[in-house]
Amino acid sequence: MSKSVGDIHKRIEQLRTAINKHSYYYHVLDRPEISDGAYDSLLNELRRLEQEYPELITPDSPTQRVGDTPLQGFNKVRHDVPMLSLDNAFDEADVKDFYTKAEELSGENDLQIVVEPKIDGLAISVSYENGVLVRAATRGNGEIGEDVTANIKTIASIPLVLQKPLSVVVRGEVFMPWSSFNEINQKREENNEKLFANPRNAAAGTVRQLDPRIVAQRKLDCFFFNILSLRGEMPKTQMDMLALFKEAGLKVNNDIKLCDTVDEIIAVINDWESKRDNLPYLFDGLVLKVNNKELYDKIGSTSHHPRWATAYKFPAEDAVTRLLDIVINVGRTGVLTPTAILEPVQISGTTVSRATLHNEDYIKQKDIRIGDHVVVRKAGEVIPKIESALTDMREGTEQEYNFPSECPFCGSQVINSVEEVAIRCSNQFCPSVIREKLIHFVSRSAMDITGLGTSQVTAMIEAGLLETPVDIYNLQKDDLLPLERFGEKSVNNLLNAIEQSKHNSLEKLIMALGIRHVGARLSRDLARHFKSLANLQQASLEELLEINDVGEKVAYAIIDFFSSSQAKKLLNDLIDVGVNTGYHDTSFANRQLSLAGKQFVLTGKLTKYTRDTAKELIESLGGTVNSGVSKKTDYLVAGEKAGSKLEKARSLGVKVLTEADFDNLAGEKQ
Ligand code: IVH
Repeated sequence: MSKSVGDIHKRIEQLRTAINKHSYYYHVLDRPEISDGAYDSLLNELRRLEQEYPELITPDSPTQRVGDTPLQGFNKVRHDVPMLSLDNAFDEADVKDFYTKAEELSGENDLQIVVEPKIDGLAISVSYENGVLVRAATRGNGEIGEDVTANIKTIASIPLVLQKPLSVVVRGEVFMPWSSFNEINQKREENNEKLFANPRNAAAGTVRQLDPRIVAQRKLDCFFFNILSLRGEMPKTQMDMLALFKEAGLKVNNDIKLCDTVDEIIAVINDWESKRDNLPYLFDGLVLKVNNKELYDKIGSTSHHPRWATAYKFPAEDAVTRLLDIVINVGRTGVLTPTAILEPVQISGTTVSRATLHNEDYIKQKDIRIGDHVVVRKAGEVIPKIESALTDMREGTEQEYNFPSECPFCGSQVINSVEEVAIRCSNQFCPSVIREKLIHFVSRSAMDITGLGTSQVTAMIEAGLLETPVDIYNLQKDDLLPLERFGEKSVNNLLNAIEQSKHNSLEKLIMALGIRHVGARLSRDLARHFKSLANLQQASLEELLEINDVGEKVAYAIIDFFSSSQAKKLLNDLIDVGVNTGYHDTSFANRQLSLAGKQFVLTGKLTKYTRDTAKELIESLGGTVNSGVSKKTDYLVAGEKAGSKLEKARSLGVKVLTEADFDNLAGEKQ
């Protein structure tokens, strides 16, 4: 006997509840109750049923964790409550200061403090409406982040549905456990791909991946540790809040301690220092928070960070290794920078084999010699550096390093610039400078030519194909095919990407020019302000100074750049090959409302979207969805088996879109 839809619905609900529960036991509590095989069979049954009855699919079904279409990009999201960052404490005295300050500001004595590991990953905020995950966003600059919902939904330990129907915005840290990190890097190594430097970069890069299927494979995890808003009564303390999170199924770190005195805090810190290398995830310190949330308003915040919390940073980690060699790089501005080549050494979980030596003075002052045992320091985000040489360990074979007086790339004299402590190559056509300029020109924040990176640029220079950026636009298929590792397909893709880059908005071109002191943000501001390259080229000092963050130094750098004959020639040549020099606003505000005021009606069965997801998409672009067709309707989206609405639309002359038309329209406008 065949089952009624009601029965199917019930079975589906039953399966979803069971799957959610077991997923929670496995991913959040780390205590699976059933075998992987049993879990898979529940999930497979649900998938089968949903395939047969697609109208019963809901966005919060456990089958919907992984979307199957790559995203076009990420929409910007404004945080209702800004996501602040934390102030730092580096030693006992800082911890005491934080504590007494909090006591003073709150007017309370004997504050309780919660001590939590500070996970090194990527901050996110996740919104639940009546217990259903509706949106996840990155922290961004604290005020505006990016909507990464589709990616965050793939993280198994983040519930799609809470165990309580809370309407809440929570904050947490997405991270990549060491186990996933090592596994991924091993695979990348086998495939000759660039390795992730550390789990933080890996997590951040993954969350910003455009293909949620890749995110799903990367095995991210997440701990929640803060509430940004809650409909209903707020928990009174941080510990109560963590208990509420646990009840709701949100994963919280189990290594959290409640301390009653400063001495206890210090003891907990010391305890952590001794076991800091043994956690399954990367963490770079501890977060100390006043337990009593009711005091937070009174204690207050600066515009950057709360005064009711601080981050205790572990001292940087040092390691001793051998300095094998010093090599010189010549950057795109011609500056010679020394890099230490080291015998590889492990520091806070990553292998370090290069470190910066800053400049000639640094090497001299610290008397660093080739062959020395050196102390290498790596702190947080900073590039590893050589702290000192262990002179006691010298064996007599160490060699002093003489900074070159000629550029190692072109043999030209170097110029010692006193005011900058920088040594530059005097040759503006130095091959290293040219190469670095080209690499910068095609890089992501500049012209963004996919498929053209350091190794390709180098190969093309060596083959005599590239000298100036204009040459990129004159590359021919037949020139590229003979090069090693350039197959038919990759050459086609590359030529397409080059062609595409001609249409970039002005800010990309400004960035690509590599004008001194002009980074990505200023490039954007300049493009927005001047609208065309011609306007920018003619800008006077006064006009430039009107722009935020442009002082005289920067304004003169811009004017100098545009007055050089070399720059003039380059820009004319770029215009000749068809590079766009105008500004088109691609900001979210403009894109978001691209379907503003447009009225849609949906009918028939769509294959790629459910009714809900199509509606969501239209609304996210500013349009509205109505149920009936009228003269006011702008578009009828007609899927399979469209019936009377389609007829009505035709009779009223309303524009009818197929699913593919709709896809194009929405995709283009996103
Ligand atoms: S509480 C007002 N607790 O550290 C800020 N933050 O600089 C409240 N982080 O990116 C944050 N582990 O995402 C808090 N247990 C923890 C944390 C933590 C990591 C991150 C946070 C932010 C950064 C703060």
